[in-house]
Amino acid sequence: MEGAVAVGDAAGDGVAALERRLAAGGQGHVLRFWPELGGAARRALAAELRDMDVAEINRFFRRARGDGGSGAAAAAGLDARMEPVPRDVLGSASRDRGLLPRWESRGLAEIAGSRVAALLLAGGQGTRLGVPYPKGMCDVGLPSRKTLFHLQAQRLRRLQQLAEEQHGTPCHIPWYIMTSGRTMESTKEFFLKHRYFGLKKENVIFFQQGMLPALGFDGKILLEEKGKIAMAPDGNGGLYRALGAHGIVDDMERRGVQSVHVYCVDNILVKVADPRFIGFCLEKGADCGAKVVEKTNPTEPVGVVCRVDGVYQVVEYSEISLATAQKRGPDGRLLFNAGNIANHYFTTAFLKDVVNTYEPQLQHHVAEKKIPHVDITTGQLIQPEKPNGIKMEKFVFDIFQFSKKFVVYEVLREDEFSPLKNADSQNGKDNPTTARHALMSLHHCWVLNAGGHFVDENGTRIPAIPRLKDANDLPIQCEISPLVSYGGEGLEKYVKDREFRAPLIIDEDGIHELVKNGM
Ligand code: UD1
Repeated sequence: MEGAVAVGDAAGDGVAALERRLAAGGQGHVLRFWPELGGAARRALAAELRDMDVAEINRFFRRARGDGGSGAAAAAGLDARMEPVPRDVLGSASRDRGLLPRWESRGLAEIAGSRVAALLLAGGQGTRLGVPYPKGMCDVGLPSRKTLFHLQAQRLRRLQQLAEEQHGTPCHIPWYIMTSGRTMESTKEFFLKHRYFGLKKENVIFFQQGMLPALGFDGKILLEEKGKIAMAPDGNGGLYRALGAHGIVDDMERRGVQSVHVYCVDNILVKVADPRFIGFCLEKGADCGAKVVEKTNPTEPVGVVCRVDGVYQVVEYSEISLATAQKRGPDGRLLFNAGNIANHYFTTAFLKDVVNTYEPQLQHHVAEKKIPHVDITTGQLIQPEKPNGIKMEKFVFDIFQFSKKFVVYEVLREDEFSPLKNADSQNGKDNPTTARHALMSLHHCWVLNAGGHFVDENGTRIPAIPRLKDANDLPIQCEISPLVSYGGEGLEKYVKDREFRAPLIIDEDGIHELVKNGM
């Protein structure tokens, strides 16, 4: 091995074995700067390397590159093999309106029986948003200043309450939260500080996904610093390995959980453990389901649910060709319009099969990235201007292919999807402002639907056009606590036939605004 020197400290004692293992895997260069490192840095590096299965990483690399990788090459092959989702697997919150009460009551009955869990994917690094803390801790500037975690926790509390009221039995929705090495400690601290937002501590279960090193195009592990590997979480599909490694499916079984709602952290409108979605999947006898919104812009960064070679999958926005994304059906809508909003339904039995049988078959997706790294020859830190290496990630939806009964549930974007991806300064899309506006606009709608009205400073009624047409439209300032209403229900007693001046906040302590005269 080039340049590594075994020394007699705690880390050094075992370093010879490490050197041999790394050299055998062609990765001996990661110890190149060992002689320059201090004791603490050596111990940290040795610990990181001891947990690393170099042979497996090399295998992942060969397999991931061997399939043609991602991007244009893979997309070209995909074009001819993609088909839209057939009508018979589709349920729709707008077209099947008449069935919603049935699906909802089925879902609430499951929740009342404590057979439903929520599972949050919160291991991402939020690179695009650029905040130094986990995305769930973001406060997008709502009047209440609630964070994404806070809103989600309160939605769970409200659902438990609704299910208890309807069925007369106490219940709970376990909340599994997947973090990564980068987000675990701060996430846990945040929950502790906020006393689990009123949830029972034993029903909030944290577990950690794995990490993988970034590699050069030649498959060599990159160093972030002389004594530190460039590591990143192994993608949200790292979920399945983590479920097995931490005994999470066993925990679900112990608790009697049969249905799991898996979702991404960044959607401010997410209906956590949505009883309608759960009820719909149960009524259809599905083991796996995806919630979608209609994709209307071919370049929107959402994956599309479709079939490839007859098998369900999501073709990710980074992997679809523009020509395919732009294809339109006879009705003028995008042919591939089932936009994935990263809300999935799985039965516990299906997850168990995935963990025990299918997980090793999942292939990594490859993203070519500009990865800052230490040059092995000079020791200089390089900030590349073009992609110099790859990150390998598994995707959460890659298990759709193993489903025996797959269904898709379409919802309205304005009711359920406004993701937080970018900082306000970056562009006008998917940022804190659009997230805040989407939530307030939805809540404004709820007030109107429940028979309330808004008036301006002169007391004149504001016309009921609550939906925002573009990012420059300002919504009425209106926020309703999830503890008061999960999806617009139960608001009549607060707002019916009353006039309000914005800002209006309705929370568990009542109404906060200038209430004009009750009518
Ligand atoms: C994701 C979906 C995309 C969908 C879009 C909707 C995947 C792979 N892609 O894309 O199809 O249209 O959301 O907003 O799901 N995460 C982890 N561990 C990781 C990486 C990510 O837990 O290693 C979590 C993040 O914390 C986040 C979620 O996965 O909650 C999505 O990650 P992100 O990278 O933002 O996905 P998108 O590229 O936006």
